[in-house]
Amino acid sequence: MEKFKKISAEELAENPFKLIGTDWALVTSGSKESFNTMTVSWGGVGIMWGKPSAFTFIRPQRYTFDFMEKNEYYTMSFFDEKYRKALQFCGSKSGRDYDKVKETGLTPAFTEDGIPYFEEAKLVLVCKKAYSQFLTEDSFEDKANVSKWYEQKDFHKMYISEIKEIHVKD
Ligand SMILES: Cc1cc2nc3c(=O)[nH]c(=O)nc-3n(C[C@H](O)[C@H](O)[C@H](O)COP(=O)(O)O)c2cc1C
Repeated sequence: MEKFKKISAEELAENPFKLIGTDWALVTSGSKESFNTMTVSWGGVGIMWGKPSAFTFIRPQRYTFDFMEKNEYYTMSFFDEKYRKALQFCGSKSGRDYDKVKETGLTPAFTEDGIPYFEEAKLVLVCKKAYSQFLTEDSFEDKANVSKWYEQKDFHKMYISEIKEIHVKD
């Protein structure tokens, strides 16, 4: 990742509410041979089990879900505003039906360990799954969120992942 500088979690200066909730991210999972990417705007970063961690929520019908299940690592790539259209595409079309790389013009790249991310990103988190579990209807304290977000009962799977590396462009 020559164009990037590796930093620690404490050195990350950007606001995670803005990064994830407003700017959005691409979650990318797979290998050089086969990978998929999709837009996320829910989730978070923080500390779990004493380690910098990412909290990612993926519905089971996403094509990316299959990759998340099969692979130990994934990345979260964050972009400048000029890539909004690409993120809109990756958040509204499925990799089952479209070649997202071809359609968006984004350039896939791979970490030394072969984990996919995008060259155009300004920030990349390399995440290693530590824990995953489907949200369950019973567990909702606020049931209003069930009727509001899960009419199809397609509960997200939550992934708690250790952030192994953070790479930023200057
Ligand atoms: C702004 C935005 C945020 C999204 N956030 C999530 C999310 O956090 N979790 C999720 O499962 N889907 C989320 N989606 C929906 C997926 O990105 C979308 O269904 C995508 O087409 C899935 O692609 P895939 O089938 O290739 O995996 C979001 C979509 C948009 C536009």
